[in-house]
Amino acid sequence: MSQYVIKVTQLRRDFADLTAIQNLDLAVEKGQIYGFLGPNGSGKTTAIRMLTGLLKPTAGDIQIMGLKLPQDAEKLRMHIGYMTQKFSLYDDLSVIENLKFIAKIYGSLYG
Ligand SMILES: Nc1ncnc2c1ncn2[C@@H]1O[C@H](COP(=O)(O)OP(=O)(O)OP(=O)(O)O)[C@@H](O)[C@H]1O
Ligand SMILES: [Mg+2]
Repeated sequence: MSQYVIKVTQLRRDFADLTAIQNLDLAVEKGQIYGFLGPNGSGKTTAIRMLTGLLKPTAGDIQIMGLKLPQDAEKLRMHIGYMTQKFSLYDDLSVIENLKFIAKIYGSLYG
């Protein structure tokens, strides 16, 4: 297996005629803390959405912990966490209810 937990080669994502990401190469080792910094609209969220399997790349290769994306996105989802930029929990549930609800859905899908 690769020495990297995240290995990205020549990643690209187009939205119609807008190229949000191009020529992105990334290699992150186990235990490394890695941050994206950049101006608004520079493609940080688009990159993370592709790295978590939520969005399909236009081109390029992504390997996360030995899994290939987007093919293995469902498997990867069991091993990663992603706190979105926008609040995405249910307002009418408490924190523990939100956690239990998501755990139940994922448990019945994959358990
Ligand atoms: N679903 C989409 N459809 C069309 N264009 C999109 C879509 N998502 C992102 N974009 C465009 O892609 C570019 C990158 O956006 P992205 O949200 O990845 O940037 P960001 O670095 O996360 O910005 P911010 O700092 O504001 O969160 C922007 O020009 C944005 O308008
Ligand atoms: Mg963003």
